[in-house]
Amino acid sequence: MQYRRLGKAGFDVSIVAVGTWAMGGKEFGRTDDRDSIKAIHRALDLGVTLFDTAPIYGSGRAEEIVGRALLGIRKDVVIATKCGPVEPRPGLLRMDYSPASLAAQVDASLRRLQTDVIDLLQLHWPDPAWPIEDAVGAMARLVQTGKARAIGVSNTQPDELRRALSAGPVASVQEPFSLLNREFERELLPLCRENDLAVLVYEPLARGLLSGKFTPTWRFEPGDVRATDPRFRGPTFRDNLQAADRVAAVARGQGLPAAQAAIAWVLAQPGITTALCGAKTAAQSSENARAADLALDATTLEGLENAAGRSQG
Ligand SMILES: NC(=O)c1ccc[n+]([C@@H]2O[C@H](COP(=O)([O-])OP(=O)(O)OC[C@H]3O[C@@H](n4cnc5c(N)ncnc54)[C@H](OP(=O)(O)O)[C@@H]3O)[C@@H](O)[C@H]2O)c1
Repeated sequence: MQYRRLGKAGFDVSIVAVGTWAMGGKEFGRTDDRDSIKAIHRALDLGVTLFDTAPIYGSGRAEEIVGRALLGIRKDVVIATKCGPVEPRPGLLRMDYSPASLAAQVDASLRRLQTDVIDLLQLHWPDPAWPIEDAVGAMARLVQTGKARAIGVSNTQPDELRRALSAGPVASVQEPFSLLNREFERELLPLCRENDLAVLVYEPLARGLLSGKFTPTWRFEPGDVRATDPRFRGPTFRDNLQAADRVAAVARGQGLPAAQAAIAWVLAQPGITTALCGAKTAAQSSENARAADLALDATTLEGLENAAGRSQG
């Protein structure tokens, strides 16, 4: 495993992190908590120190799993969670960036995570009804009161990121980025580099597509977000499957699983701090964590990019 500084937060994180959205057990199909905990423990064995979660992943269940899995080794790991959306009842989301709500949201996360401080508190996504400057200001106060060590934002447009930076000590951004989705490189990544921001990328496997395991007739469980994701439907799905097959062929040429090559490609891009890799099982988590130990040569990196081509992922 390798480690990189989380920007101005001042602490290091593993370059492969475990993302826990799927562990919530709702949005990526059913999961077994024992498997989720094994996935976290396998990652720990392989040197992963960063675990990304959110209150809305499985209505709190993912945070609870992270809390249970990391009990006793809390000081050796970095927990990143999020704030902003609240769920007054299961399935109903609304945004609340008021200082009182953000403070209450963090207290609830701390209880579920069984800890007394959140290492990285991230605004899950901006909402036009709530000025991002106010939200960042309220989050910065939570750092001052010791509830969080550092703050970050996620899913921002470049202008929103600039406004966030003007309002407080934002240390990180969290955005999607993969061989199949390189939008982030255009404007946001240069902005992050200019401002010494840590970059946590999500969907490095394009929701599993880049593992190369899906087939045209794949059926997702009802409730799995991929069942209605345009990337997994119709001609776009067909194009993505073809791109994933080509990526897998390049990876095979190097003796690598496709997922590992896809994650290693992300990690080789300048300015990326860590890849948040979702995993439901120890096998997935170990395959993903081992990507951190790869150093792909320039020809392979270019081969992967050409293979991914101009897809919609
Ligand atoms: N800030 C945000 O708005 C935001 C949004 C999305 C995600 N995130 C964060 O980023 C993390 C990663 O994103 P993601 O989970 O959506 O996407 P991802 O990492 O691209 O894909 C994860 C899914 O792919 C499958 N998978 C993982 N490793 C695999 C392997 N080695 N071989 C085969 N299949 C594998 C698993 O699902 P199956 O086994 O069911 O295929 C897993 O749930 C999330 O968990 C979350 O922490 C943040």
